[in-house]
Amino acid sequence: MADLTVCVGNIPFANPVIAASGTFGFGREMRNFQNLGRIGGICSKGLTLLPRDGNPAPRVAETASGMLNSVGLQNPGFTSFLANELPFMIDLGCRIIVNIAGNDPEEYLEMCRRLDATSVDAIELNLSCPNVKEGCMLIGSNPEMIEKLVAAARQVTKKPLWAKLTPNVTSIADMARAAESGGADAVVLINTLLGIAIDRKLRRPILRNNIGGLSGPAIKPIALRMVAETYRAVSIPIVGVGGIMSGNDVLEFMIAGATAVEVGTANLIKPTACQDIIDEIRAIMELDGVSEVGQYTGTLELWNG
Ligand SMILES: Cc1cc2nc3c(=O)[nH]c(=O)nc-3n(C[C@H](O)[C@H](O)[C@H](O)COP(=O)(O)O)c2cc1C
Repeated sequence: MADLTVCVGNIPFANPVIAASGTFGFGREMRNFQNLGRIGGICSKGLTLLPRDGNPAPRVAETASGMLNSVGLQNPGFTSFLANELPFMIDLGCRIIVNIAGNDPEEYLEMCRRLDATSVDAIELNLSCPNVKEGCMLIGSNPEMIEKLVAAARQVTKKPLWAKLTPNVTSIADMARAAESGGADAVVLINTLLGIAIDRKLRRPILRNNIGGLSGPAIKPIALRMVAETYRAVSIPIVGVGGIMSGNDVLEFMIAGATAVEVGTANLIKPTACQDIIDEIRAIMELDGVSEVGQYTGTLELWNG
């Protein structure tokens, strides 16, 4: 029997598959399609201290092998989340990670303080949302600001801190090092890549926000390259994200250096994606003769010369 368990830092997961932030809501709709107790974990939609309506529509556009979104962190606000969504999520029986996005460092810290008193398994600091004007990607593009924010969060919560990084930088490995120096327990990469889709007849961008974040299979090679680079730069665990559609994709991310993965856009195409991917991993492990999924992590051998 294949052993799919992994540990991200000191949190054990039943398997390495976590639903990515913003593509699974709080799990309410998705529980109609699969037993959510069977997936490794769910990462909540990105939360802000106050409720947000997000950006005006259209805010999604299909692209070749992927999609652009400019949702702009639509969410019910942190207080409403704690009262109305978190108790539901905790009962689902998988690990719960809460993704938070502040307008400024103090907002992140306020949410971290309040999450410390809950039973969430980890806090994902969203340092990477490309669709809002303040905080987030601005902080996540500057290593000094990343280190300072993670270190300040470390002071206000004992919860595991995961830093979710943006690929829209020159060196994601430098950002990961900064998160590690600040005391992050794991880095999560990648968030979406900035892109634009154009309507030729209108001569206008399709998205009302003009630009959006690219996700889906189109970004997988970029995400794999960034995971492989980051694996050589830090010693904390990496959670790999970007274009995962199959069990084979998950194992590629693990070979590149990921301890666990998050699955995003695939959920929007097929609401049973996470569960199907877990079954595929198990079947591939049997074929490969691998008994523990963790044996794949970091086994990439680069060609020399
Ligand atoms: C519609 C949509 C909304 C998203 N919202 C968030 C969010 O609130 N917070 C966050 O950290 N990432 C958000 N993401 C990024 C995903 O979590 C993930 O990092 C990215 O889509 C790459 O993975 P994928 O190719 O598997 O989708 C969102 C992505 C999509 C497609």
